[in-house]
Amino acid sequence: MLKVHLSIMGVVVGCLSVFTWVANAIPQIQSDVPEDLVLSDEVTPEELIAAGEDLYNGGGGCTACHGLGERAPNLLTDHAGTGLIGERCANRVAGQDCKQYLHASLVDPNAYLVEGFAPIMLDASRTLSSVQIWALIAYLQSLGGEVTVRGADFEESGGGGGVAPLAGDARATTDPQHLMALNGCTACHLPAAMELPVRLAPPFDGIGSRMTTEEIRAEILDPNAVTTEGYEAFGGTMPTYFGERLTAAELEAIVRFLASLR
Ligand code: HEC
Ligand code: HEC
Repeated sequence: MLKVHLSIMGVVVGCLSVFTWVANAIPQIQSDVPEDLVLSDEVTPEELIAAGEDLYNGGGGCTACHGLGERAPNLLTDHAGTGLIGERCANRVAGQDCKQYLHASLVDPNAYLVEGFAPIMLDASRTLSSVQIWALIAYLQSLGGEVTVRGADFEESGGGGGVAPLAGDARATTDPQHLMALNGCTACHLPAAMELPVRLAPPFDGIGSRMTTEEIRAEILDPNAVTTEGYEAFGGTMPTYFGERLTAAELEAIVRFLASLR
């Protein structure tokens, strides 16, 4: 069943990506650096929700498990009659309100396990900054509930923190490792040395000896053209928008860096 779903999805995504690729084969020299989220009390709930939605569907790596129906509970639709995630969050753990429960499910996912699922979700703070985590919480609350996340929340939990800051010095960097954190690459592609219950994407270790510079560039611009062996189940989860989001200089900085990893 899952296989059939995935292959249908694959064909659809494949067709779409051919069109996207034709449109984006040559990265625009002047495209924008990824969305900036200004870290202040003044951030509006709408800005947080939008940033959270982006992360959820892209660089956060959430859809590799959520939304497929079997590996993890659906967050965008009802799960087992308990309502959308923004509704059911308040009823999960006695003594935790919605915001507290969602925060715990992201940074300490095995403290409470949704019945019927295995403890395979990782602590999101290993790959996402605290602002990114609060943005995700705001987005999840917006699905059927009231958004109570405020700027003050991420100040209390240590501001930007983490390895993937969204704000500030992001603009105009060509440091490849910083660019990969900003674009969520390293949230999915975790180091080989990290012990993981499930590996969502191939580690970058030694990638320069497995792939040519051209192959690496092609994979980033059109991730669905070739699916890495052993990762068929996650084919189609790598975002296809990097050709639009990265400037030519940023793309080349990342490609050169990856090709140099032997
Ligand atoms: C490796 C697979 C995997 C990934 C990736 C993953 N999750 Fe999960 N998640 C699960 C599983 C399995 C559960 C149910 C077991 C549990 O409670 O930990 C779960 C539970 C949850 C819950 C609680 C749901 C409920 O009904 O109470 C939330 C909220 C959640 N995940 C959010 C996220 C977000 C946001 C991301 C992306 C940053 C993410 N997850 C990435 C597997 C994953
Ligand atoms: C949402 C998760 C996700 C994000 C974000 C992501 N990738 Fe991927 N990537 C994957 C998956 C899954 C595969 C393997 C399946 C496939 O080939 O599509 C992959 C494959 C690759 C490969 C081929 C690796 C190999 O060993 O064959 C490269 C190179 C790559 N990604 C680079 C990047 C770069 C650079 C970024 C950021 C600009 C990025 N990825 C962002 C999930 C992701």
